[in-house]
Amino acid sequence: MYRTHTCGELRIVNAGQTVTLAGWVQRARKLGGMTFIDLRDRYGITQIVVEADADPALVETASSLGREFVIQVTGTVVERESKNAKMPTGEIEIRISSINILNKSVTPPFTIEENSDGGEDIRAKYRYLDLRRPPLQRALALRHRLAQEVRNYLDSKGFLEIETPYLIKSTPEGARDFVVPSRMNPGEFYALPQSPQTFKQLLMVAGYDRYVQIVRCFRDEDLRADRQPEFTQIDCEMSFVEQEDVLEMFEGMMRSMFKNALGVDIPNPIPRMSWYDAMDKYGSDKPDIRFGMEIHEVTSLVKGHGFGVFDAEEYVGAISAPGLAAYTRKQVDELTEWVKRPQVGAKGLVYIRVNEDGSIKSSVDKFYSREDLEAIASAVEAKKGDLVLLMCGPKRKTQTRLGVLRIELGGRLGFRDPKVFAPLWVVDFPLLEWSEEDGRFYAMHHPFTAPKPEHLDWFMSNAKEDLERVCANAYDFVLNGTELGGGSIRIHNADMQKRMFEVLGIGPEEADYKFGFIINAFQYGAPPHGGLAFGFDRICALFGGQETIRDYIAFPKNNQGRDVMIDSPSKIDAVQMEELCIASTVKE
Ligand code: AMO
Repeated sequence: MYRTHTCGELRIVNAGQTVTLAGWVQRARKLGGMTFIDLRDRYGITQIVVEADADPALVETASSLGREFVIQVTGTVVERESKNAKMPTGEIEIRISSINILNKSVTPPFTIEENSDGGEDIRAKYRYLDLRRPPLQRALALRHRLAQEVRNYLDSKGFLEIETPYLIKSTPEGARDFVVPSRMNPGEFYALPQSPQTFKQLLMVAGYDRYVQIVRCFRDEDLRADRQPEFTQIDCEMSFVEQEDVLEMFEGMMRSMFKNALGVDIPNPIPRMSWYDAMDKYGSDKPDIRFGMEIHEVTSLVKGHGFGVFDAEEYVGAISAPGLAAYTRKQVDELTEWVKRPQVGAKGLVYIRVNEDGSIKSSVDKFYSREDLEAIASAVEAKKGDLVLLMCGPKRKTQTRLGVLRIELGGRLGFRDPKVFAPLWVVDFPLLEWSEEDGRFYAMHHPFTAPKPEHLDWFMSNAKEDLERVCANAYDFVLNGTELGGGSIRIHNADMQKRMFEVLGIGPEEADYKFGFIINAFQYGAPPHGGLAFGFDRICALFGGQETIRDYIAFPKNNQGRDVMIDSPSKIDAVQMEELCIASTVKE
């Protein structure tokens, strides 16, 4: 037997017992002839002691131990003289009578402790060493717990976990596909699924009315803190449901995940907000509702006062930042530069300072009287001490920019506490999104989303303004400003699906080539159905109080989409290329 206990297990009640432990040497130090070893495994750290008068061979072996050696020790549990209240095992130590070195280690490139001295790159290269650190072990344990909760909950509701293939055909989720050449079908390629969307719908046609899969998805898109090229979804679909049934089912799932994994009660019911309200009030389709600072339109209050910048624009909006009237001129200038960066894209920022002493000062005093400024301040519910910030431009773009500013200031003001959880359903999304650039409509969610039945007339119309008004029974689950999941009630009728492709400018031939299989399937008694998918990595990160998902994935990719540990992607040899009938256009 390698061990009788783990390194996180022994307590004062075990004093006097003879035990065997195995683990990694986190640290070994000599003190007055004694050797102290911190022995670590994923359960914790136990202090090991080799006494000064122990067998000289044992003392010698103990002195030869280096960091990360794997050892097995046997000894007696004794009460410590100087206890460490910070460690669960801090009341005891093991006085050992034998050490067995199971494996040596070269000196690791960084310290493997709660906080490491290693930079991100080196830790990524030696991911297997970084994974030994407690924060990462806690992250992966949380991930495991949450996956169990999902499975328990959905199993209790009759969902079947069914696997769908990875070597498929393009699925239109809006990103680029990763493709795989087919040796047996020269010149042809599989696409890796951006999601199992079409397969889960086919499972509904096949009568499996409650489907779930914790599944890997692949998207070739620009990476961010909450995006990986391969990530995991909790993918679900249900038949004979309306939006209400889906929302209720998955509110229940999120509620049980919060309760059982974090001991947190989330609001019941979870609030809902229409996409239009989300955009108007928060400038985002994923509002962070942990704090207010809502956007208010002030167009009619500011136009016609001779301030050309505002007069020339479609929309003027404002937010009020609590307490920031105290910002110095320099700080306001810095903020103005901040919103002008390409990432935000604003042309400028107008401010109104509502001072504590009741005076009002603005950057546009020339054009507005005190009463005018007061009216604006009151429209945005500014209080004494607040700083009102205004932007102008095209409506949605300006709202989005104000939304970005709101999040930034909310963060600076400490309103974005990761321990506070504010879930929200965003509902009533527009079905379609017009692209000025391409002069065509795109599906806001994906092309399998159904228009609301009451908007069918507009959907059948060919007028742009009618199509723009069509809403979908589509919904996103948002937590603290992050989109955790999204889904919709689907089209289940072949003619309606064909109409959708037509609206999206996908001709009958292309539709047939790409999606003929699903249109065909819909002709064989497809039930009404709908569903959604959650980003599992994002759920784990937010539950763990982090914004980046990387630490919740055992072997993630870096921002260039590389796995620097295994050094991938990498070249393949000429023989393999030839076998796959592919050639590279990259010049060596
Ligand atoms: P959607 O594209 O909204 O919907 O994806 C669902 C959820 O997956 C997460 N997500 C990601 N997480 C990490 N890295 C990424 N690159 C990434 N991309 C998406 C997000 C998102 O909310 N088939 C539909 C679902 C449906 O209609 O049922 C779909 O995939 O949290």
